[in-house]
Amino acid sequence: MIKIICVCGARPNFMKIAPIMRSFQESSRFNSLLVHTGQHYDKKMSHLFFEELNIPEPDINLEVGSGSHAVQTAEIMKRFEPVVQDFKPDYVLVVGDVNSTIACGLVAVKLGVKLIHVEAGLRSCDRNMPEEINRVLTDSISDLLFVTEQSGIDNLKNEGVDSDRVHFVGNVMIDTLLSNREKAEKSDILEGMGLIAKQYAVITLHRPSNVDEIASLEKIIAAFEVIQKDLKLVFPIHPRTRNNIAGTELQKRVDAMENLILMEPVGYLAFLKLMANAALVMTDSGGIQEETTILGVPCMTLRKNTERPVTITEGTNRLVALTTEDILAAYNDIKSKNFDVSGQIPKFWDGKAAERIAEMLLTQNQ
Ligand code: UD1
Ligand code: UDP
Repeated sequence: MIKIICVCGARPNFMKIAPIMRSFQESSRFNSLLVHTGQHYDKKMSHLFFEELNIPEPDINLEVGSGSHAVQTAEIMKRFEPVVQDFKPDYVLVVGDVNSTIACGLVAVKLGVKLIHVEAGLRSCDRNMPEEINRVLTDSISDLLFVTEQSGIDNLKNEGVDSDRVHFVGNVMIDTLLSNREKAEKSDILEGMGLIAKQYAVITLHRPSNVDEIASLEKIIAAFEVIQKDLKLVFPIHPRTRNNIAGTELQKRVDAMENLILMEPVGYLAFLKLMANAALVMTDSGGIQEETTILGVPCMTLRKNTERPVTITEGTNRLVALTTEDILAAYNDIKSKNFDVSGQIPKFWDGKAAERIAEMLLTQNQ
């Protein structure tokens, strides 16, 4: 029996952990425990995804909530340590690059438990991003590193990670997309919002570099003010961004846009339906760059860099510099091509990544 603790904590973790839990539960050789750190806790940032994606109820919720990086990371570590001591797993498995990832990873290795990192090797090479620190540190202490794209293999090789520990398995987030695509098409979100396919764009924003400084966010909002005169904008707003603009001038400007629909974050199925039928997505999310690549929808990533370069070289993504002019120029360029972009499906983004992870673990533990 392989005893394994799977960790999730923030929104993008839930889409990644869902197929992994399923593939472990399909084999009688795994005894898996699901721990939710509670990093995200609003119904629309957490609970909803468990229902929609059929993720088992977490066995344990550490309920850490929000805090500064140090407070949140430390609190997760304090609360996770006794769980590992009690369960005595062979492995702790963490996904992605959020604070829950590094916090639980550190606890595991300090207790002598092997660490598995799913979505290893991605690098933006921008150490101002909290996620980049989490990625570099988690990879450096992981025993098994499961990679989503070739750049991950190359980055880990350059950092001297032993290639025996690195496995190119594909993308678990895409496992979830492919297995929910049909279900998502049945969502009535377009009718409910009065939207017509390909006649609107979807926006998400939550990177601290874009939304923590009002001056940066202002440049983006100024571009949206122009674009919304041309194309309806649908903006499910992340709580970080909502809190940052609450009560500011920017809030008034956002509210004043007639053709921008500001709304709470939506569930996965509704969001997938919104993306799949959008003319364009404008985002700073990591996962959404990958999802739009599979959906064949043009994606403007409002960032200086991406840790997911395959979404540009093979997919439908492009980086857009953070000035109002650059955002408008990119928009006009995509519009001049009738929002029609072509791309290809990256290797192993085929819905079988979680199966490959389970198989690899079974092989290693024969
Ligand atoms: C975190 C991750 C980021 C990931 C994002 C996904 C880190 C360092 N960052 O960023 O990599 O892309 O999640 O969405 O781990 N809040 C709520 N309700 C919630 C959760 C958060 O209101 O359920 C608010 C709180 O005011 C909180 C703020 O959002 O302080 C930020 O939350 P936090 O988890 O610290 O970081 P995110 O910006 O969500
Ligand atoms: N997502 C969602 N509802 C929303 C916005 C995003 O279900 O209102 C999904 C999206 O499809 C993707 C994941 O959330 O699967 C991405 O999470 P997020 O952008 O918060 O984090 P990141 O990927 O940037 O770490």
